[in-house]
Amino acid sequence: MKVLVVGGAGYIGSVCAELLLNEGHTVGIFDNLSEGHRRAVDSRAQFMEGDLADRDRIQATLAAFQPEAVMHFAANALVGESMQNPSKYFRNNISHGLNLLDAMVTTGPKQLVFSSTCATFGPPERVPIDETLPQRPINPYGESKLAFEKILRWYGEIHGLRFVALRYFNAAGASENFGEEHRCETHLIPNVLKVALGQNPQVEIFGTDYDTPDGTCIRDYIHILDLARAHILAMASPRSEFYNLGTGGGSSVREVIDCCRKVTGHKIPVVEKPRRPGDPPRLIASSEKIQKELGWRPQFQNLEAIIQSAWKWHQKFPNGYGD
Ligand code: UFG
Repeated sequence: MKVLVVGGAGYIGSVCAELLLNEGHTVGIFDNLSEGHRRAVDSRAQFMEGDLADRDRIQATLAAFQPEAVMHFAANALVGESMQNPSKYFRNNISHGLNLLDAMVTTGPKQLVFSSTCATFGPPERVPIDETLPQRPINPYGESKLAFEKILRWYGEIHGLRFVALRYFNAAGASENFGEEHRCETHLIPNVLKVALGQNPQVEIFGTDYDTPDGTCIRDYIHILDLARAHILAMASPRSEFYNLGTGGGSSVREVIDCCRKVTGHKIPVVEKPRRPGDPPRLIASSEKIQKELGWRPQFQNLEAIIQSAWKWHQKFPNGYGD
């Protein structure tokens, strides 16, 4: 298929584009490089620099490239930042995303795979979180993604847009070529590995008084390659759906740090800090629905394999993409 990957120079988009290309699809990448990196664009893809804020630009890009499907990764995705600057999240994730949907309605492609998040649920009544649980986000980031999910329903009903929204839990790990690098790094695993690389003196643990066995937050870390495979299955889905996407396992912040110690052989000093606003204590996915309906199976079930792939990438590219 011919696929436009919007936000394809970012962490998740770059790996999805790589997998699409490996499987013989034709890929165009549209990215404003605000969060993404020029070097994260696979050389086999056609790169089109542009911003979703510019309605005409995305419309002209779709009209010229004529994709059969679109994958939409372009968004801001930091819980903490969204608590400081909600306007940025509502504008970029909702309003600029609408420019993409409107351009799709005008120019033709009917199939969309959308990056959603488990942050749309907020603190759940129970784990694992399945698709029947109520969505009550506790930060503007989750709220912005939930709003876009609702917009997708209406565009499906009114304009016949077919979509699959994948609610990721915590994307982690790397492919051989592409990995996790944010200009402002707030994510746990890259921050821990930066200590092992000697780039930071210590890791901060945000909150040690949660109601969890070791007092730190629990997350469901999913390998980026498993996540990318789910996008390819979703692209072929005959109907619109929402799927939760994680491994069904959970690791605490302390367990992640211990695992990084084991993989890197570095002692990784820590310092305990207060809770970070907007962090739910425990997020674990039920992925039964996507397993049953799309035949998705995670291939990386253990945290160590995920961290090993991240560590390999960080050692190969200690300065990331260098921009
Ligand atoms: N954490 C630390 N120290 C750090 C970084 C993080 O203790 O230096 C803690 C956080 O407080 C949290 C956990 O590690 O408890 C995971 O934090 P991340 O920042 O790695 O990931 P989040 O769970 O906050 O957010 C990620 C994505 C979101 C997505 C969310 C769903 O960034 O897009 O997962 O859980 F919505």
